[in-house]
Amino acid sequence: MSEPVLPPAGYPSIRRAMMPRDTNAMGFVFGGVILAEMDLAAGIEARLHSLNPVVTVAFDQVEFKEPVQVGDVVSFHTETVRVGKTSIVVKVDVWAKKRMGAGRWVAVTEGQVTMVAVDENMRPTLVTNNPEAF
Ligand SMILES: CC(C)(COP(=O)(O)OP(=O)(O)OC[C@H]1O[C@@H](n2cnc3c(N)ncnc32)[C@H](O)[C@@H]1OP(=O)(O)O)[C@@H](O)C(=O)NCCC(=O)NCCS
Repeated sequence: MSEPVLPPAGYPSIRRAMMPRDTNAMGFVFGGVILAEMDLAAGIEARLHSLNPVVTVAFDQVEFKEPVQVGDVVSFHTETVRVGKTSIVVKVDVWAKKRMGAGRWVAVTEGQVTMVAVDENMRPTLVTNNPEAF
């Protein structure tokens, strides 16, 4: 028997059920809805490293691998790839627990988000470890 396919171990940064308001004309979840949650999840991960607020500067290597449907519970798993001078690169792996199919897990989207720590004038500022996060 083949091994079950499972998302990364540990808690996701975000987990939420998809609703009818999230869908496109074909009845699947909009890519933009997934991207918005990836953005939030990357921000949560980046704030583990930065006392200052972070903003998104780039999305890279985004791949929508499988469609997401209403009722799927979607998890946004994050991993810090690199901490630079002012930037933090976060890999986001998105998994859906399918409403249909006895709770089967499917890897639906992945991508890399670069966040930049900014000061009160929206200027890049040094990433300083966030002591509350560790
Ligand atoms: C994010 C922002 C403050 C960066 O300002 P900037 O003057 O371009 O910053 P810099 O050129 O000094 O680069 C800052 C860091 O971001 C990185 N960076 C800049 N552009 C990048 C890109 N396109 N891809 C990946 N990393 C990038 C740089 O490598 C640098 O990292 P490091 O300090 O760790 O080496 C500015 O671009 C901005 O305000 N963008 C809009 C942010 C926003 O509104 N986001 C929400 C989108 S809806």
